Amino acid sequence: MKYMGSKARFSKYLLPIILKDRLENQVYIEPFAGGMNMIDKVDGVRMANDQHEELMAMWHALIYDHWDPPQLLTEAEYQNIRTNQQDYPKHLVGYVGFNSFGGKWFSGYRRDKEGKRDYWGEHYRNITKQLPNLDGVILSCKSYLDLKFKKNSIIYCDPPYASTTKYRDDFDHKVFWNWCRKQSKLGHKVFISEYNAPEDFECIWEMPSKTTFSWHAENLSTKENIERLFILNT
Ligand SMILES: C[S@@+](CC[C@H](N)C(=O)[O-])C[C@H]1O[C@@H](n2cnc3c(N)ncnc32)[C@H](O)[C@@H]1O
Repeated sequence: MKYMGSKARFSKYLLPIILKDRLENQVYIEPFAGGMNMIDKVDGVRMANDQHEELMAMWHALIYDHWDPPQLLTEAEYQNIRTNQQDYPKHLVGYVGFNSFGGKWFSGYRRDKEGKRDYWGEHYRNITKQLPNLDGVILSCKSYLDLKFKKNSIIYCDPPYASTTKYRDDFDHKVFWNWCRKQSKLGHKVFISEYNAPEDFECIWEMPSKTTFSWHAENLSTKENIERLFILNT
């Protein structure tokens, strides 16, 4: 699924590192699963959490209720759902809200002036293609802080990245890194995607990347960043 901050293009590098020493039946869990663009390539016992209610309602409807989402919405329908979200089922609001510019929540109706791109068809095909690979994923919708883990879990974190622009940043990164320290010390294998980390974390992989959107900046400029994967230095 096209999703802001998607790790789709890095999954082929990240997953071999994260899953390298995975034991049989070792749980793989993502506290910030978003568009499920990593977990859809993992097998075995898997748990996907995200605190975005409509997003998780959408995944639940698609994976467990075999909901067939709409293949086309007019701009008027999109705007109506955007303005009157409370009048629509959450799973539909989730599906529509993320079919927006950059996979960013209700950031605007995508239309192609030349009529060449069928954005609703693409959204439909991307998501329905993912579904067979999400069969059996255990879903939850809560803050990562409220998650409970089975002993010795593999926890892959892809949180909202720390803002470099100081623009609207309501995710507490200090609390997050403390939580990572705590989970690592409890014996879980904790991997974190971020551009930067506190000094007691070690970068085990990096790759330059261009991003159009960030979780914190609402402009469309393209930025060069370095994607990194961290673990706690022990
Ligand atoms: C960068 S995105 C994850 C993208 C995902 N890895 C992918 O490839 O599609 C970060 C996600 O964290 C979620 N999130 C933000 N704060 C959260 C919190 N406190 N607890 C759980 N999820 C949270 C957001 O809803 C968003 O879906």
